[in-house]
This record gives sequence, structure tokens and C-alpha cells, in this order.
Amino acid sequence: MSAVEYNKINDITVENQPVQEPERQYYYMDKCREIISERTKEKGRRLTFYVETFGCQMNARDSEKLRGILENIGFVRNDYEESDVVIYNTCTVRENANIRVYGRLGHLKTLKKKNPDMIIGLCGCMMQEKHVVEKISKSYRHVNLIFGTFNIYKLSELLYRVLTEDKMIVDIMDKTEEIVEELPVDREYKFKSGVNIMYGCNNFCTYCIVPYVRGREKSREPEDIISEIKRLADDGVREVMLLGQNVNSYGKGLEPYVDFASLLHRVCKIDGIERVRFMTSHPKDLSDDLIDAMATEPKVCPHMHLPLQSGSSRLLKIMNRHYDKERYLELVEKIRNRIPDISLTTDIIVGFPGETEEDFKETLDVVDKVGYDSAFTFIYSKRTGTPAADMPDQVPEDVTKERFDRLLALVQKRAKERCARFEGKTMPVLVEQVNVQDDRLVTGRLANNLTVHFEGSSDLIGQIVDVKLKECKGFYYIAEQA
Ligand code: 5AD
Ligand code: SF4
Repeated sequence: MSAVEYNKINDITVENQPVQEPERQYYYMDKCREIISERTKEKGRRLTFYVETFGCQMNARDSEKLRGILENIGFVRNDYEESDVVIYNTCTVRENANIRVYGRLGHLKTLKKKNPDMIIGLCGCMMQEKHVVEKISKSYRHVNLIFGTFNIYKLSELLYRVLTEDKMIVDIMDKTEEIVEELPVDREYKFKSGVNIMYGCNNFCTYCIVPYVRGREKSREPEDIISEIKRLADDGVREVMLLGQNVNSYGKGLEPYVDFASLLHRVCKIDGIERVRFMTSHPKDLSDDLIDAMATEPKVCPHMHLPLQSGSSRLLKIMNRHYDKERYLELVEKIRNRIPDISLTTDIIVGFPGETEEDFKETLDVVDKVGYDSAFTFIYSKRTGTPAADMPDQVPEDVTKERFDRLLALVQKRAKERCARFEGKTMPVLVEQVNVQDDRLVTGRLANNLTVHFEGSSDLIGQIVDVKLKECKGFYYIAEQA
């Protein structure tokens, strides 16, 4: 399912190349549209595109923007790599994401032999790393376009250059002060949407490459966020996910200053929006006002993703996280006191340099005490350029792997116990899709983000329906319509 968000500037056709954004991009969309229309006639078929997203929700939202631009130009979406335009929106948080991209590029070379007009584009976090761009420009000559995280909005301008210049186009910016919006977006779901409220990150956790590839933290003006969400609501969106690397520090640098809790209150006032989520919360900046907003605003979903990273206060200090084990546990207690049924989820890294068995046991202890509804567990990945990459005592692979398995077993055991707490209850579900394995079922989510499957047909998609939660199967529920 897909929905195109068009907006007020969408109809502009400009004769001369404008300097201002986003008008300049609408100019290039017109120019590309002319070329693509010619090529469509020549080939006697519509030209197709395929965008693949690696990584997080931010990248998923960026891909919706890429698709919106490509559709506006005249391409049609295709779910296969055998397309006329293939774009990989890359991630570089962990090394294995990079390895996957290189593997896929090898495969594309074969496909391009069959369709020499194929345009291959790479963008996103991995492209912000110099050594990656050097390697691709040298060894992957079949790539046509490389751009980064700050110029996603420039896709039509860059594509125009690919279509008119016979060379690899590389356009990487080191940073940007500008937030360019008001461009077409092709949403993955008609009824829910991510909304960027800020870009970048200032935290410099010592293992993490994000601040280097996404730049300094920059919050969007609350008025811009509110008007975007109003437009989404008018277009049928019922659930929004406010996106930022650290939403709890939203508002820094804005004049006048607005904090995240007050933004949440404002979003909740928008008619038509029934559920409000957000991601991600850094424990160091979690305010009482935010907990209060969650407890008092019925539209805010009772779910918080609160990355722990490690349970060891010693390691948390070296990770530059600015909280310790005790403070994290106090926070959890405070949140649960105000919102008893809340679902808590987390991210945990195993094998950070210097991690001892004692450090690791502290992580297990926090997992056991908190009882997360689910957790993303990661093996530490060395990222060139981060402080942790140069730290001594990198943990051997076999030790990390053994710890990882123990952690996963405990996470799963606690999640299973925890998720079962709603068995027998009747709760509202936002239906998202027909079940992929059994088309007699539909799949949706509770407000607390747990997945539910129940008998129903595709006309329920996008609706919020009450279901009786019959059986908890670990991390999802089997239910029936109430
Ligand atoms: N190695 C492993 N996991 C990492 N993360 C960030 N950097 C690394 C790394 N170098 C994890 C953190 C973060 C999540 C998005 O990715 O847990 O919260
Ligand atoms: Fe990375 Fe830390 Fe920023 Fe999250 S808060 S993106 S882990 S540096």
C-alpha cells in the first residue's frame, strides 16, 4: 500500500532554474520528467524504480522521500532489483550492513549487463564515509550516483545530471544548516507515518558513528512539524511516529525554546491523529515532564524505547552515556510508577572493548530486573573514526558470541513472561496488513507496540478495532475480534 503526499508547492512549474529550495528541485523534477517521458515512449513501457532501505526508521522515512520524487518524475514503483533505477539507502551503524551493500552491488553488475540503461544510486549514512566513496568510485564503476544523508532532497537535480552527463555523479556534503522540506513523499502506509522532528546527534557515544555521518543535532520548528502532521491527518494518517536520534533533547537551539513534552502535547491536539509514538529516547535526557505527558495524554502510546547499551556503570562511563546502572533502574521505576502497563524496549551492545564477565553480568542483571517487552541485541562492531575503535582490549569473537547467546536467552525468557500480562484482555489494535503467512488473518499493533494476529479481511486495514487477546505466543498475540 502506498500514498503520495502532495502539497502546496507540488504544482509549481518553473521556467528558469531557481536558486531557492525546494523550488529548485521542482524545476529539476520537471526537467527529468521530460526526459523520462521520452524514454518511456522509446521503450514502449513505463520505467520502474526500486528503493531498498537498510537501517533505522530515519532511513525508512528518507526512502519515502526518495520514492515520492521518483514517482513525481514519472517512474513507477517495482519490488524487484530488475528495475530502471535502483537505489540503496545505506546504513553504517554496524559493519555487516556495509558488507551486505557490497554484496548486492556485485549482483547488480550482472543485472546491468542485461539492462545497460539501468541507473544505480547509493545514498545514506555509509556514503558519508570517505573510504567507502573512494572504494566505490574505484572498484564499482557501474554505480551512477552517490549522495549522502544531507542531500536526499536533491535526488531530482542529481538524477538530471546522471541523465545528461556521461559519468559517475558524486555529491556528498559534510554538513548542512538547511532543512529542505515540502517535497513529494510516497508513504509506505496510508494510515501511519514517521515524522522527523530533528536531525543528527550530538552525543558522541564512543562506539557510535551516527554523529559523524548524520551531523550535529538540529530541531525542526514546531510550527513546521504541526502543519506537516495536520496535512498527514487530512490525508488519512491516524498514527504518527516522531523521529529523532534523541527526541528527549528536542528543541535545543530553537527560539523560543520548546521542549519535547510540550511538542507532544501540541501534537496530541491535532484532530484525526489517534496514536502518537516517538523514537528514540536517551535515558540521560528523559524528563519528568515527558513521563507526565505520557501518563496524561491518552493519544501517546504506552511504549518507550530506552536504549540501555550496557548494565555496567564502568562501561557506561567509557561509552560516554552520562548515566549509570542505578540511575537507569531508578528511571525505569519512575516510569512504571506513573504508567504501570507501559512496554519498555531497549538496545544492548555486547562485547564493547574491555567488557569483562563482571560487566556483562551487570547487563544481565538489568535485563532481569527491568523485564523488557523486547530488546535489540547487538554484537559490538568496530567503526573506524570512533574513539572505541582505538581502545585496547577488544573482546575476542568467541567470548562475545557466547555472551550474546546468553543475553538473547534471558531477553527472550523475560519478554515472554512480560508480554503475557495482557492475556484475556480486550484492547484496540490498529490493523496494518493481511498476514503474510495466512491470508485469512490480519496483523496489527496494540498501542504498546505488541503485534497481534486475528481473523479478518483486508478492508480492516487502517482501522482501529477492539480484539480479545486469546493467547500470547512469546512476542505476539493470537486474538479474535471483540
Ligand atoms: N556496534 C554495535 N552496535 C551499535 N549501535 C550503535 N553503534 C554500534 C556499534 N558500533 C547500536 C546501539 C544503538 C543502535 C541503534 O545501534 O545499540 O542504540
Ligand atoms: Fe549513536 Fe549515542 Fe547518538 Fe544514539 S545517542 S545515535 S547511540 S551517538
